[in-house]
Amino acid sequence: MLELSNDELLSTTRAVRKRLDLERSVDRDIIEECLKLALQAPNGGNMNNWHWLVVDDQKTIARMAEIYNQGLEDFIATFGEQGYAGADVLGADRIESSTQHLRDHFHELPAVLLPMVAGRTDQAAGYPGAAFYQASIWGSVIQAVWSFMLALRSRGLGSAWTTGHLWREQEMADLLGIPYNNFMQVGLFPIAYTKGVDFKPAHREPLQNVLSWNRFEEQ
Ligand SMILES: Cc1cc2nc3c(=O)[nH]c(=O)nc-3n(C[C@H](O)[C@H](O)[C@H](O)COP(=O)(O)O)c2cc1C
Repeated sequence: MLELSNDELLSTTRAVRKRLDLERSVDRDIIEECLKLALQAPNGGNMNNWHWLVVDDQKTIARMAEIYNQGLEDFIATFGEQGYAGADVLGADRIESSTQHLRDHFHELPAVLLPMVAGRTDQAAGYPGAAFYQASIWGSVIQAVWSFMLALRSRGLGSAWTTGHLWREQEMADLLGIPYNNFMQVGLFPIAYTKGVDFKPAHREPLQNVLSWNRFEEQ
């Protein structure tokens, strides 16, 4: 099997937490530029059922940090310190210390993106076409968020996908004036320059462990 070069592997993006530069401010222009690129992503029926909220007000970010941390506490109270992934997940130690670092410094972030998508999938389970409905809604925003993260990366900035605060989604909606019943929140995305741009390829299960050809086969 052909091996990919590091450069090719790094054309995607790593979760950046410890190396977010909290001392450096980020211009709104660069964030809007990355969002314009993000909006080129495909979305179901081209309905543009998304909304993008960027917070750069430090007091609001500090309150968001509290909700984020409380959300993660709820998660830990429900699933335990290791979460549902367990301790044997690839790179568990690194993830834990990096996640803790972001928790400790979230309130210092220069800006945070909170993407939303119209509609709620919480009640969809059990209805006919539930998988179609859920995949269509989430698939209509996640690709744009990923494009945003890649656009940040190509400009020397970084982010990390986080969903911890969604344990307290309603609280975040109340803080930011989001109509909870009409918009589902995707997560919180730190926005900051990175300290250096020399990232390593991600630890992942090798392709042959997760690939089937022609018929599903569990390895
Ligand atoms: C759906 C999703 C939710 C995540 N939620 C969090 C989170 O709440 N907090 C956090 O610090 N990282 C979160 N992460 C980041 C993952 O932990 C991270 O991608 C993982 O550590 C692998 O890092 P790597 O991509 O740099 O290898 C999340 C990632 C995804 C895709």
